[in-house]
Amino acid sequence: MKTIAKALAGSLMASTLLAGAALAQTKEVQMLHWWTSGGEAAALNVLKGDLAKEGFAWKDVPVAGGGGDAAMTALKAMVAAGNYPTASQMLGYTVLDYAAAGVMGDLTETAKKEGWDKAVPAPLQKFSVYKGKWVAAPVNVHSVNWLWINKAVMDKIGGTEPKTFDDLIALLDKAKAAGVIPLALGGQSWQEATMFDSIVLSTGGAEFYKKAFNDLDEASLKSPTMKKAFDNLGRLKAYVDPNYSGRDWNLATAMVIKGDALVQVMGDWAKGEFVAAKKEPGKDFLCYRFPGTDGTVIYNSDMFGMFNVPADRRAAQAALATATLSKSFQSAFNVVKGSVPARTDVPDTAFDACGKKGIADLKSASEKGTLFGSLAQGYGAPPAVANAYKDVVTKFVHDQIKTSDQAVIELVKAINDAK
Ligand code: BGC
Repeated sequence: MKTIAKALAGSLMASTLLAGAALAQTKEVQMLHWWTSGGEAAALNVLKGDLAKEGFAWKDVPVAGGGGDAAMTALKAMVAAGNYPTASQMLGYTVLDYAAAGVMGDLTETAKKEGWDKAVPAPLQKFSVYKGKWVAAPVNVHSVNWLWINKAVMDKIGGTEPKTFDDLIALLDKAKAAGVIPLALGGQSWQEATMFDSIVLSTGGAEFYKKAFNDLDEASLKSPTMKKAFDNLGRLKAYVDPNYSGRDWNLATAMVIKGDALVQVMGDWAKGEFVAAKKEPGKDFLCYRFPGTDGTVIYNSDMFGMFNVPADRRAAQAALATATLSKSFQSAFNVVKGSVPARTDVPDTAFDACGKKGIADLKSASEKGTLFGSLAQGYGAPPAVANAYKDVVTKFVHDQIKTSDQAVIELVKAINDAK
């Protein structure tokens, strides 16, 4: 397994720590993140505002690129140089990886004071607490198995909610016949894999998803069901416009917002773009679970991983942690971001219909045991495995892997090599 600890070994970390620390002021929060789209920036403004009220300045370190691949490369370089940010946006297994490398701070005192143990759901604590210490503040819970649909286009083609994968294909055919781009896709590996998470869940069901993408069970990874999931990915690709390659996710969302395309399969950060464009669910757009996946939630959660900064910067870190988990922030931020609160005790009053469904789905999936981590989004397996997965999916989408049979063979090999 390729871990962060190995990547950092031999770096100049210790000797340059002080130099790095000098770059950051004690009364500022230096935050590395990949929230650069309109909806994401609007959500981040809620946090900047809250911290400003506490007297903390904001030092932005944005690294564009949805899914955070580029941001994580930048983070690795900063940490290796001993230039720790106050915090970094991070996903699941990456937090644990940095914690194992011994570079994370300790938020336990703040967490105790604020009662995080009781308020934060157990699946999130698994990734924010390392060896009994809180090392990250969970910001939200996103889920990936959603469809985002333009309502006017849906009405025009006389479409209804697709309940099965075949229904979805029939709906896409209707859009095609009406001269609308059926499926808005951004041809980047993380987006393709995020969509494939939903396809695998829809094709194989909740238990299959868990066995394949959380337990990495080899029999499931190489099963006929996985092959069928790749077949289904191939079927969906036929509905994408020719310019999809390399397109950013928010540009794909904009195609749906404008009515140039019918639907995007994307995590609920897409809803943040609809909200930023002043669009309303039920009136301008529709949110449905990916067909055949209602009742299961494939989640990820943005966390602010907190680094082991020098003592004079820890007050800023504690202020950030307290602000992040406050109930009022959890409501105000997630309403704008498209996600749902990372605490179980935040009322859904301020959320729109999609947000209310997201909150209710999360609750019922936790109770029923159908809440699973997204492999594409850092919650199914450690980063090396997730990267191997994204690589195979994107090669399949871009015809470098030609058949579903071959894709399954490559998937098993890539995951085994990365383990
Ligand atoms: C993050 C979201 C973000 C999305 C697109 C995901 O990995 O969890 O917060 O909006 O990437 O940038």
